[in-house]
Amino acid sequence: MSTVTFIIGDQIKEVKAENGKTILQIGLDAGVPIENACGGNGFCTTCLCSVKEGSNNLSERNDREENMGILEDPERLGCQAKVKGDVTVELLDQ
Ligand code: FES
Repeated sequence: MSTVTFIIGDQIKEVKAENGKTILQIGLDAGVPIENACGGNGFCTTCLCSVKEGSNNLSERNDREENMGILEDPERLGCQAKVKGDVTVELLDQ
């Protein structure tokens, strides 16, 4: 289990999560309102996050992120980045 801390505007929400799930899945399961216009398929960037802490506790950047131009930290697509340890993310496109 890991802890994912979501920063949503001026609110903070901590969620315990199973490793291997995406930031998007974890957030939605916990009632965090993450936009996901393409349904989590890596084609829209509405789930864009800024990783504040724990970027090496996420899966490697994948082709879908690279195709959408999400190339450098701290930006990650919430629907593609899988959690493998504690991480703090700020939701950008809400
Ligand atoms: S939900 Fe569309 S890119 Fe993540």
